[in-house]
Amino acid sequence: YHTIWFENNIVKIIDQTKLPHQFIIKDLKTVKDTINAIKTMEVRGAPLIGATAAYGIVLSIIEKKDPSFIMKSAQDLIQSRPTAINLKWAVDRMIKKLGSNSNEWLNIAINEAKEICEEDIKFCKNIGLNGLKIIEEIYNKKKDTVNILTHCNAGALATAGYGTALGVVRAAANAGKNIRVLANETRPFLQGARLTTWELKEDGIPVKLITDNMCGFFMNKQEIDLVVVGADRIAANGDVANKIGTYMVAVLAKENNIPFYVAAPVSTLDLSIASGNGIPIEERSSEEVTNINQQRISPEGIEAKHPAFDITYNHLISAIITENGIAYPPFTESLKALANQK
Ligand code: MRU
Repeated sequence: YHTIWFENNIVKIIDQTKLPHQFIIKDLKTVKDTINAIKTMEVRGAPLIGATAAYGIVLSIIEKKDPSFIMKSAQDLIQSRPTAINLKWAVDRMIKKLGSNSNEWLNIAINEAKEICEEDIKFCKNIGLNGLKIIEEIYNKKKDTVNILTHCNAGALATAGYGTALGVVRAAANAGKNIRVLANETRPFLQGARLTTWELKEDGIPVKLITDNMCGFFMNKQEIDLVVVGADRIAANGDVANKIGTYMVAVLAKENNIPFYVAAPVSTLDLSIASGNGIPIEERSSEEVTNINQQRISPEGIEAKHPAFDITYNHLISAIITENGIAYPPFTESLKALANQK
């Protein structure tokens, strides 16, 4: 289940831009390589870019044991993508741990980055078990297949391993529940079509791919029992930033009386931000929209807009599933309680 690891002073990642056609393990040797891997989305998903940034700090110490270089690297890592709070969370945690003895920095940093990854997998498994309770409730009412819609990829590939939204799916599959997943393709970067289907297929979990604009049709036909998605940042009031299109899915779910769940570790909470409107939204390149696989699909000269995330407002969310438990509305109180729980 590991998506990132450290070997002979080199960080190893799976190049996700090549999936599902090629499974390529790539070496990151410098902090610049790390920043580049995050920016180009060779690694992506909030917890995984946090883990990658943690290893970026390790590489910066290997490059130069110079505090100003390490602090500059920390800033650059945090700024490599703006929406997911896990980047800042992981980098701050690494820097805090280093202490004053520079001879110990490398060992401390390696251990802490490993710890962030191990913890992430453990938390994902707990998110899965907490989410399983929700699936069981639905299963007990239906006594039949539970149909789950997900958007983007909040799976093993988006974390150090196991996944958040797909952690819930995995926990349900492992518990022997009869589940079926519908995966939105997730235009424009196609994380659903390329990554979610790939990793569920690897695990033998039944999945069907749909284009994003089909999900309303299936909700209306009552072919979806619940929606589970991940998150890149969750504000104090429970508003959630997640992959572009999540808001549209949540509005459709509300219209069709389908419960909408967000699964995320507590490290994705940003209680310093009051509401979703304060969360910075990454704007990515026009080419990621106008082109598919380097092939232009719109006329030359046409510019595209490309916000990479949107905000799903708290009134659209049934509950937020974390490793510490499930937060129900009103989220301001329930999230604070879960965040303070060790
Ligand atoms: O742009 P991406 O692919 O990094 O966006 C990923 C998502 O939006 C995920 O849903 C989110 O990071 C949660 S991953 C467990």
